[in-house]
Amino acid sequence: MKVTIQLVLALLISVLSFSVQAKIKEVKVGAVFPLTGPIATYGQESVNGMKLALKQLELDPKTKGLISLLVEDNKGDPIDSANAVRKLIDVDKVRVVLGSVASSNTLAGAPIAQKAKVPLLTPASTAEAVTLTGKFVSRICFTDNFQGEVMAKFARETLKAKTALVIIDNSSDYSKGLEKVFKRVFKKLGGQVVDQSFAYQQKDTDFRTLLKRAKRRRPDVIFLPGYYTEAGLILRQAKQMGLNVPFLGGDGWDSPKLFELAGKAAAGNYISSHFAPDDTDPMVQNFVKDYKSTYDSRPGAMAALGYDAILVLADAIARSKTDTPKALSRAINTTKDFTGVTGNITLDKNRNAVKSAVVLRTTEKSFVFKSKVNP
Ligand code: PHE
Repeated sequence: MKVTIQLVLALLISVLSFSVQAKIKEVKVGAVFPLTGPIATYGQESVNGMKLALKQLELDPKTKGLISLLVEDNKGDPIDSANAVRKLIDVDKVRVVLGSVASSNTLAGAPIAQKAKVPLLTPASTAEAVTLTGKFVSRICFTDNFQGEVMAKFARETLKAKTALVIIDNSSDYSKGLEKVFKRVFKKLGGQVVDQSFAYQQKDTDFRTLLKRAKRRRPDVIFLPGYYTEAGLILRQAKQMGLNVPFLGGDGWDSPKLFELAGKAAAGNYISSHFAPDDTDPMVQNFVKDYKSTYDSRPGAMAALGYDAILVLADAIARSKTDTPKALSRAINTTKDFTGVTGNITLDKNRNAVKSAVVLRTTEKSFVFKSKVNP
C-alpha cells in the first residue's frame, strides 16, 4: 500500500513538473544579419520583418514575451559572422540563432552552432552546403538547386533563349552554386552556354572590360547570380555600352537599392525570388499593408523571410517539450505545413524548406510578379 502511494506521488510530481516545463516562458534568440556594408538592405529588411512578427506575438497573451531577440551586425562579412555566432552562444547563451543572409556568411557561422549543438535557422541562405553542416542547421527557404533550375527553364522555355552567358561573383558561394545548376539545366534543355564564365569580386565597381568581352559573345541572355550592389552597377554599365539582352538573376537582386543603382537600366530583366509583394493572397496583402504603414516602404523578399522566420520559430517553441536547444532544434526541424507570407513551409529530412519560387520581372522602379513555380 505504502509503495503504491509513493508511486502515485512520484507520478504526480513528474506530470506536474512536465506541465510546468511544457510552458516555455521566454527563449533568448540571437540574430546575425548584415546591417551595414555592401548587402545592408538584406539585414535592415530582415530586422524590420522580424520586429513586425514580434509585435504580432506581443498582442497574443499566449505568445507575449516568448521570444527575446538580440541582433548582431555581421557587416556582410564571413569572419564577423563567425564571431557573432560565437559571441551569441558563448557569452549571451542564446538558445537559437537566426541568420544569416549571404550563404558565405551563414557557412562561416553554422559550424560553430552545430558544434555547440545550438539550432541555427537561416531565413534566406540558399546554397546547398548550408544545411549539410549538420542537424542543428536548417532553413525556411528553398535551395539554389531549385532556384537555378527555375531560371534555366525560364530562359529556355519562356524567353526561348538559345545561348546564355554567365557572370559570377567569385567571392560568393551562392553565386558559384547557382552558376553550376543554371549551366547544367540550360544545357540539358538543349541550350548552349558560353563555356567560360565571366567573374568579378564583391565590391568591384567597374565592370566595363568584363561587359565588353561578354558583348562580343552575343548571348541571348546573361545569367547574373550576384547581389544587388554589383548587379545594379552591372545593369547600368551594360546599358551604357549598348549590351541590350535580358539579364537574369536570383534572389540576390531582391533589394530596393537595385533600382537606385541601375536607374532606367533596371527594367526588362527577371529574377527568381521568395515573395511577390503584389501577390493578391489576402495574407500577403495584410503583411504588405502592415509593413508599409510601419516602415513607409514596400517589403522585399528579406522582409518577408524575416517575418516568417520568427513565426516559424514561435510555432516550433509552442510544439517543443522543453526549452533546451536540443528540443528546440527538433521542433524546428519538424516544421510542417506552416503557412507563411513566403508560402507553405515544410522542412524535409535534410532540413531544407520545400516550397515554391516566384519569377519577378523588373520595371524601372520595382519587381512585378510574373509567375509561380512549384517544387
Ligand atoms: N539566397 C542568398 C544567398 O544565399 C541570400 C538572399 C536571400 C538575398 C533572399 C536576398 C534575398 O546568398
